[in-house]
Amino acid sequence: MQQPPVRKAVFPVAGLGTRFLPATKAQPKEMLPLVDKPTIQYVVEEAVASGLDEITLVTGRNKRAIEDHFDAAFELEYYLQDRGKMEELAQIKTISELASVSYVRQKEPLGLGHAILCARPLVGDEPFGVFLGDDIIVSRVPCMRQLLDVFERHGGPVLAVMRMPREELGRYGVIAPRGLGGSVYEVQDLVEKPDPRDAPSDLAIIGRYVLTPDIFPILADTLPDSRGEIQLTNGLRALRGRRLIYAVEFEGKRHDTGEKLGFLKATVEFALARPDLADQFRAYLKSLDL
Ligand code: UTP
Repeated sequence: MQQPPVRKAVFPVAGLGTRFLPATKAQPKEMLPLVDKPTIQYVVEEAVASGLDEITLVTGRNKRAIEDHFDAAFELEYYLQDRGKMEELAQIKTISELASVSYVRQKEPLGLGHAILCARPLVGDEPFGVFLGDDIIVSRVPCMRQLLDVFERHGGPVLAVMRMPREELGRYGVIAPRGLGGSVYEVQDLVEKPDPRDAPSDLAIIGRYVLTPDIFPILADTLPDSRGEIQLTNGLRALRGRRLIYAVEFEGKRHDTGEKLGFLKATVEFALARPDLADQFRAYLKSLDL
């Protein structure tokens, strides 16, 4: 089925980041760096590498630093130019030239489904990619590009899924899959945070989605859960009753930087992948004699 190219990307970044308190008391968790680059920049780079260059960040209180990060920084640029620090200058200019970034506020953290609904005026009547900044994915083909390939083939919403040890399934949305060949599935059902014993499979949904605009009226009608939050999974279940939804077991390594251990592991792996740090850092880790 021929699909018009997807151009838009939505990044819900209005969560409070409570798992990283006190670091997130006055700064967004999305600005915490892996080595020297804020996590949000890795994910925006994935969007751009996947061909999405109209980016909407759904922000909340305390998120100003993200806006500044993707903006021009004239004083800093002047300073670096003046001191002849041309490499650093090129680096920070690249960030503000990455893509066109717009912002919309989610006034209260009423859940991921609600955050996506806040992007509706900027997305309009087009399919769009959704990126959760906690999930940093290192892959040969950018993860979102893998989802978009499935979208272009099948013409329906696509979820990124990965196999997860049973005991961890209770933290995720989990799909009941019907194999369509290779790594692509039709989603027959999806359950939010199941009891691992009742989970319909070991395929957990992680933070990449291609959604179609018919999700918006559904989210607008989705009732808040017991904590007052509108859950995306509930909206997707309703959408599933109206059209086919697909899932792809993507190729790549996913780092969960939204929790402390995952963040630390990612930091070590990213540092070891950096030519300017790897040798010394590896020698240091070995010297720890753990
Ligand atoms: P999380 O459930 O991981 O929440 O949200 P969080 O606030 O980011 O982190 P913790 O659990 O308190 O440490 C998943 C994604 O949905 C966004 C978050 O910013 C994150 O990218 N989100 C969540 C919103 O944008 N708005 C919300 O109301 C809730």
